[in-house]
Amino acid sequence: MEIKDKIDRNKLPQHVAVIMDGNGRWAKKKGNQRIFGHQNGVKAVRETVEAAAELGIKFLTLYAFSTENWKRPQNEVNALMHLLISTLNSEVKTLQENNVRLLAIGDLESLPANVHHQLRNTIDLTSTNSGLSLVLALSYSGRWELVHAVKNIIQDANEGKITPDKLNENTLYQYMQSSFMPYPELLIRTSGEYRISNFLLWQIAYTELYFTPILWPDFRKENFFEAILDFQKRERRFGKTSDQLVNETSTVPNNNS
Ligand code: IPE
Ligand code: IPE
Ligand code: MG
Repeated sequence: MEIKDKIDRNKLPQHVAVIMDGNGRWAKKKGNQRIFGHQNGVKAVRETVEAAAELGIKFLTLYAFSTENWKRPQNEVNALMHLLISTLNSEVKTLQENNVRLLAIGDLESLPANVHHQLRNTIDLTSTNSGLSLVLALSYSGRWELVHAVKNIIQDANEGKITPDKLNENTLYQYMQSSFMPYPELLIRTSGEYRISNFLLWQIAYTELYFTPILWPDFRKENFFEAILDFQKRERRFGKTSDQLVNETSTVPNNNS
């Protein structure tokens, strides 16, 4: 039995988030420059997108470039920006074939104009696709997203559109850039690092975390399916006891409920 066939299609996460890490180490192990690792990470992105689309997962968020990644050497940042443009260009076909809609979160205005332009183009081209939503986190950090949300709340408060008594977890989330998607049920991080690195901080309060030592350029469909299988074995208690869960339906508390 193939690993994919072991997955229970009735218990799929709606949203999977991935911290794609380990490109630099992968390249170094092969005696190459870090950018060689980034270039080889594109295949892993394609495999992951296809795997998520095949399963019928609704949202896949990929952490592609963090707010802090701007601090890397200029030549690496430039190379990553170029790679982004060429990948968006070359992968449009794969996105269309798999009925994938591209979206992006992060401080997109801070991206170089040509990257921003190519991104907008690809988002527009795929906007009517109705399958998987692929969300690229670019110049993104969880703290940045929260600050951005608070600024919008203050703005609305100044205009009398919101008062403190109306603010709760759901209304706060509505002010966040990623509020168009449910919170991720599963977060995968490759490369054997056990940290969040400023990814979806608010959203992952009850997310299941999955860490694998595989370096991102080596990540394949089977590895994604393995993570989904592992997720399906977990008991998500949301603060309750195991016994309480027995008589409950499989509906889980999320921002949608
Ligand atoms: C992840 O790989 C890609 C980005 C952060 C853009 P890294 O470049 O962080 O690779 P390592 O962690 O140094 O091996
Ligand atoms: C996290 O990886 C960011 C992305 C994958 C885009 P990093 O490699 O930047 O994280 P740290 O610095 O090891 O925490
Ligand atoms: Mg890294």
